Amino acid sequence: MPKKIIFSLYLVLVIGAVVVYWSKIGEPNIKQPIQFNHLKHKEVADCETCHKYIKEQAFASLPVKEDCAACHESPITDSPEEKKLLDFIEKGKNISWARLYELPPHVYFSHKRHVTIGDLECKSCHGYMADQQSPPKKPLVALMMDDCIACHRSAGIKTDCIACHR
Ligand code: HEC
Ligand code: HEC
Ligand code: HEC
Ligand code: HEC
Ligand code: HEC
Repeated sequence: MPKKIIFSLYLVLVIGAVVVYWSKIGEPNIKQPIQFNHLKHKEVADCETCHKYIKEQAFASLPVKEDCAACHESPITDSPEEKKLLDFIEKGKNISWARLYELPPHVYFSHKRHVTIGDLECKSCHGYMADQQSPPKKPLVALMMDDCIACHRSAGIKTDCIACHR
């Protein structure tokens, strides 16, 4: 009898922990190592300065500290966030930006294809990223399968499953 009670209590605890864990996952709260301001860089650099491969590769890429050091070798503002950046550069530490958009591995997506051949603007998929004054905690636009297919339909592009799933 007591054994059964102990077992049930144990089960309740385990299920409770799993529920809490899942509810935390569902809540996007992406944190970045530096409060980067896209808007302040809009006039001084194009997207390609920091997202170097948008026109050449499937992936866009996030900037490395050397990309920032091109302009931030020494302080140009009195922002504490810039101090953090200079610290990364001085110590030779990599800045690990968290990903905002990331498809599951079974989906194939190419920036080169959409940006060059498709001639699409970044904002048609990423919203007003260029005007953000601090890093968003979740994607500005949730890009789900239905959104990909809706645009493909209206543009007359293939919507076979294997066009996107490999
Ligand atoms: C092409 C030059 C250039 C590059 C490359 C560049 N910056 Fe800047 N950055 C600037 C200028 C200019 C300012 C000052 C903008 C202002 O105050 O209006 C600035 C300001 C800042 C600030 C202070 C802004 C604030 O919130 O007050 C931070 C932090 C910063 N940059 C981070 C970065 C990071 C991180 C990178 C690399 C991912 C980077 N910058 C790359 C030119 C650049
Ligand atoms: C000076 C460097 C710099 C420039 C220029 C820049 N970005 Fe970024 N971008 C970053 C950094 C740093 C992050 C990660 C932090 C954040 O979310 O703000 C980022 C994140 C992003 C992301 C989210 C990527 C992901 O999934 O994690 C998108 C989308 C993006 N930028 C679009 C743009 C567009 C569009 C432009 C041009 C209008 C642009 N960026 C110009 C530095 C830059
Ligand atoms: C047709 C929709 C679409 C367009 C247009 C688009 N992106 Fe993306 N972007 C995505 C998707 C989807 C992902 C996630 C890709 C993945 O996980 O493989 C992504 C990811 C990113 C990332 C994260 C890092 C990486 O290497 O994947 C950055 C940065 C980014 N995009 C910047 C840009 C910029 C800058 C432009 C404009 C030049 C742009 N994107 C245009 C859909 C788009
Ligand atoms: C705003 C419109 C738009 C959105 C959103 C969009 N696409 Fe596309 N896609 C295009 C266009 C336009 C082309 C055609 C480019 C070309 O001619 O190769 C294309 C082509 C493709 C191709 C090549 C198809 C072929 O013929 O082999 C793949 C794969 C693809 N997209 C995947 C995706 C995925 C995955 C997403 C969602 C994450 C997505 N696309 C979202 C407009 C879009
Ligand atoms: C234009 C691109 C595109 C096409 C065409 C497409 N998918 Fe997807 N699919 C995606 C993307 C992007 C995701 C990941 C985002 C999401 O879950 O919505 C996805 C996710 C999925 C998932 C996983 C859903 C989940 O909850 O994890 C399944 C299953 C799937 N697709 C089946 C299909 C089938 C079957 C077809 C053909 C009838 C198809 N897809 C056609 C882009 C596409």
